[in-house]
Parts: sequence; structure tokens; C-alpha cells
Amino acid sequence: MASIPLKKKNIPGANPGAGRFFQQWGMFFRQFVKHPGMIGSVMPSSAALVNRMLDRVDWHNTHLFVEYGPGVGTFTQAILDRLHPDATLLAIDLNLDFVAYLEAQFDDPRLKVVHGSAADVRRFIREAGHSQADYILSGIPFSTLSDGVGAAICAETRAALRPGGAFLVYQYSRYVRRLIDPIFGRVSDELEWRNIPPCRIFCAVREEALAQAA
Ligand SMILES: C[S@@+](CC[C@H](N)C(=O)[O-])C[C@H]1O[C@@H](n2cnc3c(N)ncnc32)[C@H](O)[C@@H]1O
Repeated sequence: MASIPLKKKNIPGANPGAGRFFQQWGMFFRQFVKHPGMIGSVMPSSAALVNRMLDRVDWHNTHLFVEYGPGVGTFTQAILDRLHPDATLLAIDLNLDFVAYLEAQFDDPRLKVVHGSAADVRRFIREAGHSQADYILSGIPFSTLSDGVGAAICAETRAALRPGGAFLVYQYSRYVRRLIDPIFGRVSDELEWRNIPPCRIFCAVREEALAQAA
């Protein structure tokens, strides 16, 4: 698998190892206290969850990977570790503090961080110079979004994926299935226990025939 080394910017308080973990956790927890509905979790995802979700990606054929709700970059780092040197990672977060944190933390030409809602994913993809995404991964807490927002994000997501592309979603409940089942052809549903709390993993594929008919 091809990868290039990630350069980290030198920011005060950004220590390697355990120091960095507690710095990220502190940042995440402060944002949860400020915006519980938007963040939806008290701590970042576990390494077990991250690896299990990313193991299903066909990295050789991934040109554009989109991440919704990167937070402090728990998945972002792992995605960049696996991403082809010529590919792009577009990370979209509604929380301006997380966007500023990621911009300070990562210095990798393949990463574009944008502030805004996943509901505008197609506009962000166009502005990044692409037409469709190969994978879209989401950590957005769908069950706490305002009425209609989750459905709008899922419809936009399907339209933003190439035929055969996949929407990878991690959630603490099955709520999101009522949004993705009606618009995606195939949805798998698994449970990852090694996360606090245990987490469901959904993989929804934009099927070729359905995509062509749309
Ligand atoms: C549970 S946190 C996930 C953080 C991180 N990806 C992780 O796994 O540790 C949810 C994230 O979704 C973001 N978010 C919530 N609503 C959003 C929206 N409509 N568009 C983009 N990001 C959103 C929050 O700001 C937050 O960063």
C-alpha cells in the first residue's frame, strides 16, 4: 500500500504519544460540553473501530475520499496513512474549532479541510476540483440532527458517490438505517465492541444499476 509520511505542524501543547492523546481527548470533551447534539459522543473513536472501518476500503482505486465530522482527526490520520500519494481526502466539519484544530495539526497536501455541513458535500467536491467521491465516511450523530437534516445529508451523499462507491457510517444506534435503507441498494450492519460505547458500522453501496437509472 502506498503512503507518504505525514508532516505535523509544530503547535504548542501538541505532544507525541500519551500527551497527544490527552490533548485530543481534552479538545474533544470541551467541544462535547459546548455542543452535545453536534458532537454526539464524549470521546473520540477507538483504534479498533478506525481499523475495522478502513480495512474494507479499496485504497488502490480511491481517488477522492470524503470524511464527514473529522473532529480531532482520529480517522483523518489513519486515512492519510493508507491513502495513495496522488489521492485527496476532503474533510468536512460543522464545528469551526475542530476545523481550526485540524488545520493546525495536519500539514499534508492531500488533505483539504472545509468548514460547513455535509449537506453541501457536492459543492465542496466541485470546489476541490473533483466530480464524485469513491468513499464517504461519516461520524455525524444522525439521531440528534434537526428534522430533515439527516435525510438531506444521506440523499446528497448518494448523489456524490460514484456508481459502486460506498457510504461508511459509524453510529451508536440503528437510527440511521431509516435514512439510508430507502436510498441505497445494499446496506451491511455490524457491531464493534472495542469502542466506548460499542458502535455499529454500516456500509451502504451506491449500486451500479440503480446509479445509472437515477
Ligand atoms: C462523534 S464526532 C466524531 C469525531 C471523530 N470523527 C471521531 O470518530 O472521533 C461527530 C462529528 O460530526 C461533526 N458534525 C456534526 N454535524 C455535522 C454536519 N452536518 N456536517 C459535518 N460535520 C458535522 C461534529 O462537529 C463532530 O466533529
